[in-house]
Amino acid sequence: MLLGASLPTLQIPDVPLPLYDDALLCADTAEAFEEASHRAVSLVGEKFATVSAPTTGPTPQQMADRINHVNLRSPLGTMDQSFNELNDLYVKDAVYFHDTKYAAHLNCPVAIPAVVAENFVTTINTSMDTFDQSAGATLIERKLISFTAELIGFDPQNADGIFTSGGTQSNLQAMLIARNTATAKLEGSLPERLAKLRIYCSEDAHFSIRNAAMLLGLGYEAAVAIPTDAQHRMDAQALRNRLSQDVNEGLVPMAISATSGTTDFGAIDPLVQLREIASEVGAWFHVDAAYGCGLLVSNRHRHRLDGIEQADSVTVDYHKSFFQPIGSSALIVRASSSFESIAHYAEYLNPAAEAAETPNQVSKSLQTTRRFDALKLWVTLRTLGASRLGEMFDQVIALAEDAQQEVAMRAQLHLVADVQLSTLVFSFEDPEHPLELAEHNALANQIRQRLYSSGEAMIAATTVAGKRLLKLTLLNPNTTLADISEILDAICRIGTEILAERTTGDK
Ligand SMILES: Cc1ncc(COP(=O)(O)O)c(C=O)c1O
Repeated sequence: MLLGASLPTLQIPDVPLPLYDDALLCADTAEAFEEASHRAVSLVGEKFATVSAPTTGPTPQQMADRINHVNLRSPLGTMDQSFNELNDLYVKDAVYFHDTKYAAHLNCPVAIPAVVAENFVTTINTSMDTFDQSAGATLIERKLISFTAELIGFDPQNADGIFTSGGTQSNLQAMLIARNTATAKLEGSLPERLAKLRIYCSEDAHFSIRNAAMLLGLGYEAAVAIPTDAQHRMDAQALRNRLSQDVNEGLVPMAISATSGTTDFGAIDPLVQLREIASEVGAWFHVDAAYGCGLLVSNRHRHRLDGIEQADSVTVDYHKSFFQPIGSSALIVRASSSFESIAHYAEYLNPAAEAAETPNQVSKSLQTTRRFDALKLWVTLRTLGASRLGEMFDQVIALAEDAQQEVAMRAQLHLVADVQLSTLVFSFEDPEHPLELAEHNALANQIRQRLYSSGEAMIAATTVAGKRLLKLTLLNPNTTLADISEILDAICRIGTEILAERTTGDK
């Protein structure tokens, strides 16, 4: 049910699609719209059926040379011509996350029901801000929020939440609520209160937490990076030490943000311990489960999130481990009253007087006009069910665990931490060619770049303690151990080639 290379293609009709005199979607153009949509689906279906590499490896310059030539003041006149041009500018050289050699960033192949649901989202073009623009859509979103709250272990009668564009926005909103909660308890002018606030997260936490501190007027330094243990989980004792130091200095712990599935290592911070600490210091306890949220629907690994039910707020990115198309994320809060501090009422849109009887989501959102992204998840759950999504996430976790052996079998590759979710982070170091750190780092970047240019595979890279490392992020249940083995072989082959070129001075 994931969109992949086996998707059957539709027949492309042999008639040119017209340029509509009235190009707006309405009763008169519904048929023409359907025809054009079939054509678009055929083209993309055909592409999916024939993709055999994650990328063609274009450079930014090559793409710019093509795209810069387009004159936006001079329309092509037919949909066919637009599609042809689009194929050349984008489709044929796009990055295909469903390809089994794509192992770079936290992107998943997408569930077919979700992709198909997108037609309804964009065509009907519901806006989620108020009930009078959304009708059933609002209640569908609310039911999904309730369902997610239940998966987390919150009391769904008391919990609430809102769909957002992604984990960055969900984290920002969580920190906004935490900031308002903290400032309400303090005295003094607003700048004085803000200056005291601190957010504690691990040094491996996503940068959106630090950015949130800046955006909320606290300054980047207000996000305190706590050291991690060998498995890249936040060190609870180090947190305690830092908290007592900061509290002694008059600072106020506004929030502890735990990560359940760090971006690089998939590490899950010790939620139960961190909750306890947050309660001791009166801080908001947020869990960024943007990546690890797939565990919520896993029968095998759900226990890894134990403690999440004690959070004040949770970020879930369905567009990572629920196999949803971008964007699909939510912020879920344990107590619906948490939204009170950010509620806003506009006379033209959601007057306060109507708040009690009309379900207007805008008062809980950072956005006004907002897509009905929730529908994609809804159709996925109604078609496939949550357990199927959990099984798919289990599959990628098992694959990553098995892939550790594949790394260990290669003398040039060195895993830097045990696999915790579905990423593998390792270095390429040839025992026969010891390198200085700067040379090592340059080599890692070259390997990744050359792999990309070849189109053979796509991998990511990250830096830990100044050392550039290679990273595989596995989110594709269709990927096999043989695929991983081929990717690792390609890395070793390219690394060896580059070292040989350096030695012979070829390059
Ligand atoms: C742990 C974590 N939190 C938050 C984010 C940000 O999510 P998004 O890219 O959906 O904004 C990411 C992105 O990779 C992440 O890994």
